[in-house]
Amino acid sequence: MEKIYISDVAQHEGKEITLNGWLYNKRSSGKLWFLLVRDGTGLIQCVVSKSDVTEDVFQACEDVTQESSLQITGKIAEDKRAPGGYEMQVTSVNLVQIATEYPITPKEHGTAFLMDHRHLWLRSSRQTAILKIRHTIIKACRDFFDERGFTLVDTPIFTPAACEGTTTLFETDYFGEKAYLAQSGQLYSEASIGALGKVYCFGPTFRAEKSKTRRHLTEFWMVEPEVAWADLDDNMDLAEQFVSYIVQRVLEIHQEELKKLERDTALLEKVLPPFPRISYDEAAKILKERGTDFQYGSDFGGGDETILAEQFDRPVMVHRWPAEVKAFYMKRDEKDESKALGVDVLAPEGYGEIIGGGQREDDHDLLLNRIKEHGLPKEAFDWYLDLRKFGTVPHSGFGLGIERTVAWICKLPHVRETIPFPRMMHRLKP
Ligand code: 4AD
Ligand code: MG
Repeated sequence: MEKIYISDVAQHEGKEITLNGWLYNKRSSGKLWFLLVRDGTGLIQCVVSKSDVTEDVFQACEDVTQESSLQITGKIAEDKRAPGGYEMQVTSVNLVQIATEYPITPKEHGTAFLMDHRHLWLRSSRQTAILKIRHTIIKACRDFFDERGFTLVDTPIFTPAACEGTTTLFETDYFGEKAYLAQSGQLYSEASIGALGKVYCFGPTFRAEKSKTRRHLTEFWMVEPEVAWADLDDNMDLAEQFVSYIVQRVLEIHQEELKKLERDTALLEKVLPPFPRISYDEAAKILKERGTDFQYGSDFGGGDETILAEQFDRPVMVHRWPAEVKAFYMKRDEKDESKALGVDVLAPEGYGEIIGGGQREDDHDLLLNRIKEHGLPKEAFDWYLDLRKFGTVPHSGFGLGIERTVAWICKLPHVRETIPFPRMMHRLKP
């Protein structure tokens, strides 16, 4: 039998059909039952009238509980007042399984309880709205690069070396050898541009983050473009177009979900190029004027990022960082050797850094020195150094964190709600 989904009931108006789903809610008024059924594509009100159905069917309506699975048959009729604009006039109900004592009720639950029941919490309308927006954001990332001639390169997860510093590495035993879970696919994307010119990788990345903040996960998804013959300015052009594209796509498709999340979309509508670009020095000046205790030369804290972002009505790009706070592979600014040609994109409304990237060191000897200065094992990077020996070119790229982007666009208080099954320092289950 052809399956019909709630999202498509309009095409079946006036006809009798069967829907498969779960009970979301129910209420009765004497001789009527109103069953609210969901199937993942939508929600529909199913009206059961005692005079139209057998006693068994009416009894099934008494028995059915929230989250019970059921198949329900009836005629589809337009009803402007019903959620979704259509309702079902039920002729029969087949209870597949009755759910007993579903733990998530309309009353308020604590975060730990909800996280322990994440496998069920996902079914709530707020969580499904977030997951749908996440899906669209991921699709938009891929479409953006695909439309611009980038090739997707899948980079490894088991790696022999650190990319983003040694303090957040997850180590694992690889047949007697040490391997690390990838913190970033960047080094492999850099290798791939020698073959393909412009590439992106997109996958899970891992950081042993001991910080318990609303912006950090230990496993998160990152999309990382890398472009040959591109400098820092080209990189910033790409980043602002990319972020705008994602936001505008979500606005196009997800008005309903954004409303469900009570997201004020006026602020998102402003996310269009050009984004303001300020140097680290200019950013430091702003922080000083605001009277924060920020120390020149250090990385920005979450609070600093929020203050900086508040100065602008769209994401702000901070470039040219003190080299000490950035990764070993960053190229230095020829006008000021103490600065690295890195760029961070800070999202508005207190969401902080969503993109980190920059121009890469393309000179073999300088790169080798940096590897030594950072105390990294040269043997693990010999292949990476090769890239500077065989046709090195100026090149740039960045990484956008999917979860922080979802948190910002959906205006969520914490990244734990942005991914189906979050991994954090104290969270490995479910
Ligand atoms: O700034 P990061 O560390 O940059 C890199 O990994 C570069 N190799 C990317 C590149 O140039 N190809 O991380 C990039 C982004 C951050 O801006 C943030 O959005 C996200 O990844 N991110 C995290 N998201 C959630 N939890 C964490 N622990 C994160 N760490 C980084
Ligand atoms: Mg960063």
